[in-house]
Amino acid sequence: MDIGVLGTGTVGRALAGKLAATGAQVVIGTRDPAVLPGREDFADWRATSPAVEVGTFAEAAAAAEIAFNATPGHVSLEVLRMAGADNLEGKILVDVSNPLDFSTGMPPSLFVSNTDSLGERIQAQLPGTRVVKSLNTVNASVMVDPRQLADGDHHVFVSGNDQEAKQVVSDLLRDRFGWRNVIDLGDISTARGAEMLMPMWLRLMGSLGTAMFSWRIVT
Ligand SMILES: NC(=O)c1ccc[n+]([C@@H]2O[C@H](COP(=O)([O-])OP(=O)(O)OC[C@H]3O[C@@H](n4cnc5c(N)ncnc54)[C@H](OP(=O)(O)O)[C@@H]3O)[C@@H](O)[C@H]2O)c1
Repeated sequence: MDIGVLGTGTVGRALAGKLAATGAQVVIGTRDPAVLPGREDFADWRATSPAVEVGTFAEAAAAAEIAFNATPGHVSLEVLRMAGADNLEGKILVDVSNPLDFSTGMPPSLFVSNTDSLGERIQAQLPGTRVVKSLNTVNASVMVDPRQLADGDHHVFVSGNDQEAKQVVSDLLRDRFGWRNVIDLGDISTARGAEMLMPMWLRLMGSLGTAMFSWRIVT
């Protein structure tokens, strides 16, 4: 499976590293590949995942069967423009971003909510791409290794307009990351709910004193 991960931060590295470790061909995308390998923190991570290739956002998108958006919400639409709509046409884009606004300090607020979401804005910008919102409700470590908490007996969500794309993503979450429980929330407008968990997630992190927690849904 060919994967393009757009974003070289904590989340991009966690996704790229785990996907490469499970046998995927991974290109991680950045603004300037000539600069990035020289950054010490990136070079240290790269030594742990030498199979991951580094390219521009456009090269990562072009190489992908499935792409991930792992960039800060306020730049995601711009990064996806750099990646190129043509390079993402017909493909699945897993959007793990959150629309966080840090402009008034901590905790951040959401710059889109209630009647719209970043997932929907990304889908509107890329009408030929099958956007699936997922994984934004847990931290990067839990995303790719959910079984480190409660033996994986907790939940992650998928939102998107394309049923087959959501099935492909759900299979990837189970087979490569180890998620046991994936809830299909519905179409891409249901990303509003997943993104609006962020204010609660941030308060829980403050209360619990850790980012290592997840959501378990009981009926
Ligand atoms: N951190 C978590 O545990 C976590 C959990 C759930 C969801 N999320 C969400 O996942 C996303 C990624 O999180 P992260 O912590 O990995 O983010 P991050 O470290 O801030 O993201 C870094 C990436 O964003 C790119 N970038 C930054 N500013 C840019 C700009 N002005 N123009 C173009 N590209 C720019 C960087 O490009 P270069 O490579 O060129 O430097 C890099 O690839 C966010 O939306 C976050 O809310 C995070």
